[in-house]
Amino acid sequence: MDQTEEKYPFYETFHIEGGNFTHAGSISSRIKRILKNEGFPNQVIRRMAIATFEAEMNVICYARWGILNLLVSTDFLKVVVDDEGVGIHDVNQAMKEGFSTADERIRELGFGAGMGLSNIKKVTDEMLLTSVVNQGTHLEFTINVVNGNPA
Ligand SMILES: Nc1ncnc2c1ncn2[C@@H]1O[C@H](COP(=O)(O)OP(=O)(O)OP(=O)(O)O)[C@@H](O)[C@H]1O
Ligand SMILES: [Mg+2]
Repeated sequence: MDQTEEKYPFYETFHIEGGNFTHAGSISSRIKRILKNEGFPNQVIRRMAIATFEAEMNVICYARWGILNLLVSTDFLKVVVDDEGVGIHDVNQAMKEGFSTADERIRELGFGAGMGLSNIKKVTDEMLLTSVVNQGTHLEFTINVVNGNPA
């Protein structure tokens, strides 16, 4: 029996604690390691590292907690992030380069340029962002392994 067929797809779940900057970037680093071990192309790993880092940071910056689900298959990688938090009033506005509601504390840590969501959009093949104010935000994106976005 073909071993590769048995292995994929597989899922990994990561919990993100809002407001905790101590481990900022640790989930995207773990995902990067998983994908390296699986032998995915560097270009795909680079795009995933950017997108997962920005998604993780947004939960840390703006939500109370979140869950990141990773689906790894041979043809594509999919990430779904759900958080509980303040939510986003206008997702189209939030997607615009330079728009940010980051406070002084977040800016002092070097975040809050308003580039995260637009960068996710740039490096992924599909992206969906929805939110309910005072409840939370749902973000999902897909990166194709073959014939994906050349960004
Ligand atoms: N998970 C979230 N919950 C609530 N608001 C969010 C969330 N993600 C993004 N936002 C809102 O969308 C805005 C834009 O997000 P984006 O990631 O593009 O930029 P940023 O986080 O402000 O700065 P940068 O990502 O460059 O550090 C944020 O400032 C925030 O108002
Ligand atoms: Mg951000």
